Amino acid sequence: PIVKDLFGLTELEERIRSHFGLKQVVIVPGDSDASPHTKKELGRAGAAVLRKLVAEDETIAVTGGSTMAEVAYHLAATTSLKGCWFVPARGGLGESLELQANTIASTMAKKTGARYRLLHVPDHLGEEAYQSLMQDDSIAEIIQFIRRARMVVHGIGEAMVMARRRKVDRETTEILRQDGALAEAFGYYFDRQGNILHKMPTVGLRIEDIHQMDAVIGIAGGKSKGEAIVSVLRHGHEDVLITDEAAALEIVHHL
Ligand code: BG6
Repeated sequence: PIVKDLFGLTELEERIRSHFGLKQVVIVPGDSDASPHTKKELGRAGAAVLRKLVAEDETIAVTGGSTMAEVAYHLAATTSLKGCWFVPARGGLGESLELQANTIASTMAKKTGARYRLLHVPDHLGEEAYQSLMQDDSIAEIIQFIRRARMVVHGIGEAMVMARRRKVDRETTEILRQDGALAEAFGYYFDRQGNILHKMPTVGLRIEDIHQMDAVIGIAGGKSKGEAIVSVLRHGHEDVLITDEAAALEIVHHL
């Protein structure tokens, strides 16, 4: 708290919290874009919030990404998480293995002594393939399991950065750009006002599932993500934001 007050971070937390009507905002000092140390601290803060907010025997849906990988790294065996299940929020989104939601879910479970279930669906599904996968009993069962999650912990990315990282085709990327896509979270793209523009065709949580959750926890930092974070907050379904000082300053700049 002493360090926070020195940077005026408590005030910044409250300003963002009240503006967006969030339950909690946590800001760590620094800029994740410039400092790997700050990104680690972001992960540590995310792990602490998760430990604190989790209910007994809860199913926790998680996304992938490098920030979520830091959260996983900072988790350790705790009684509060022991009876929990970690599941991926969405299926394959074109991420490399270390950044996939499946990897993050299984790492989190192993580190905390919790259990996990994975969702094995290929990336970039066409409509037809998607429909026939949904007919499969074992896929349908795990999707039902995932939709019982009351808590989701997710990263937030810049739309164009994420489209490139996930090798979204040129045409779709161009449409996203023209439509003003600024942010991406769990396979959905958002414009400045927080409207959803496009969803990647993959299985798992639908946006309406996320809207009905008890706890939606977003975790993202770095000056470059400030605007993207604002977009996702304007969508209006976040409960907790964990970010860093540089992103927080950008956020208030865009209010
Ligand atoms: C993805 C999440 O895996 O990570 C997205 O599904 C998020 O919600 C992205 O946009 C952010 O990644 P990073 O590496 O910037 O934390």
